[in-house]
Amino acid sequence: MTIPELREKKARGEKITMLTAYDLPLARLLDQAGVDLILVGDSLSMVALGYPTTVAVTMEEMLHHAKAVRRGVRRALLVGDMPFMSFNVSREETLRNAGRFLKEAGCDAVKVEGGQGSVESIEAVQMILEAGIPVLGHLGLTPQTAAKVGGFKVQAKTAEAAAHLIEAALRLEAAGCFGIVLECIPSQVAGLMTQRLSIPTIGIGAGPQCDGQVLVTHDLLNLTGGFHPKFAKVFARVDQTILKAVEEFRQAVEKGTFPSSAESYAMSEEEWRRIT
Ligand code: KIV
Repeated sequence: MTIPELREKKARGEKITMLTAYDLPLARLLDQAGVDLILVGDSLSMVALGYPTTVAVTMEEMLHHAKAVRRGVRRALLVGDMPFMSFNVSREETLRNAGRFLKEAGCDAVKVEGGQGSVESIEAVQMILEAGIPVLGHLGLTPQTAAKVGGFKVQAKTAEAAAHLIEAALRLEAAGCFGIVLECIPSQVAGLMTQRLSIPTIGIGAGPQCDGQVLVTHDLLNLTGGFHPKFAKVFARVDQTILKAVEEFRQAVEKGTFPSSAESYAMSEEEWRRIT
């Protein structure tokens, strides 16, 4: 999958799919299933590392996981999520960190949250793009700065806020982003943005009119331990499958039915006689 192919999909009215992965086994499965983009999201922080917010995850942790994901991805476009304070600190830090996702982890692009009204975020995006690194924008509910946008709430609910968001999206498009993730905004606003932008919009909690959809894979597989945002549909209860398999393993070991001869190795009779 390439950036021009994503644009072509938008032009043909074909939907784009994106999911998150943090390790090789899931990355391999998502790639085999034909997902267009795989995101090593900073949701890693809460979903896989157990931190309370996405703010905590470090650049080193993001790279560690992105490298593992890279080893499982052949077809999809791989996007590394710039964690909190990896950009907007200084020009050097921003460029070094964005570059590390490509050079060290083998990502194809980075995602940068924010830009709605924040001059710094737009400047960071421009700087990264000028260095030749493709950028996926992220507007609406931006978890890294959730406090600033009023908490984990639906954004752009008023006409003024929607107009402001559309302006921000047009700025990101003009800067050269190849697409924009729209998180938690009313469907009508996402639909309007999708019409006004020539680059693809990828929604999460932004309704069906976006050019594509993204979910946190652990949400769709029911592996997040109970919390479900309204937009996160569970497509398979993989937690139940894992629980059943692990219980069966435990019972088989306790009863002595695992391992059987089928899962064991034998020594030849002759060698056995020599030691007994
Ligand atoms: O970090 C993440 O997983 C994300 C997606 C929800 C878009 O940013």
